[in-house]
Amino acid sequence: MNIVLASNNVGKLKECRAILAPLGFTLSTQSELNVPEAPEPYGTFVENALTKARHAAQLTGLPALADDSGLCVHALRGAPGVRSARYAGENVSDARNNQQLIADLALHEDKSAYYYCVLVYLRHADDPQPVIAEGVWHGEIIANPRGEGGFGYDPHFYLPELGKTAAELDPQQKNQLSHRGKALRLLLEKLS
Ligand code: IMP
Repeated sequence: MNIVLASNNVGKLKECRAILAPLGFTLSTQSELNVPEAPEPYGTFVENALTKARHAAQLTGLPALADDSGLCVHALRGAPGVRSARYAGENVSDARNNQQLIADLALHEDKSAYYYCVLVYLRHADDPQPVIAEGVWHGEIIANPRGEGGFGYDPHFYLPELGKTAAELDPQQKNQLSHRGKALRLLLEKLS
């Protein structure tokens, strides 16, 4: 079954494909189908994901899957949150966002944080009952980046029980543990 993924983020595409492809789902990104990015104006992940999925389903006529995800830091009252991709400004690099996070957290003792992911699947643009699945991954923010894998905040997202950052995990290990992996597996359960 062909589904449009309402995102152009290569990291997310890889992670979603790795889990959905073995089950017979073909995932196209919205840019492959000439769908422009939808605005994400809302203050909650679920509102943004629903808006993105509806926009992609409307423009392609395909079932749509949207992910909205981000890093929430307790000491920063949930920031960067829905602004994770643009924490240090519009169109900035992961490195800039990471720098901003480390600077903002420097004076706080509590470094605990979690990644959150919500997935919204719409069978068509007017689907009255979206399938929604969430996933959470807890860790701590460390000032010195470690690892080359993953994307975004992964080099600073430390998992005490593994003694590694998310960027030091191989892709399969990350999919097993991550907020997105958990949400995807839950979504599949719900769909089936
Ligand atoms: P979105 O594309 O608006 O959902 O923004 C997601 C942003 O949250 C990404 O650009 C990253 O900054 C951050 N993020 C979400 N999931 C991950 C992850 O698995 N690793 C690292 N950063 C993530």
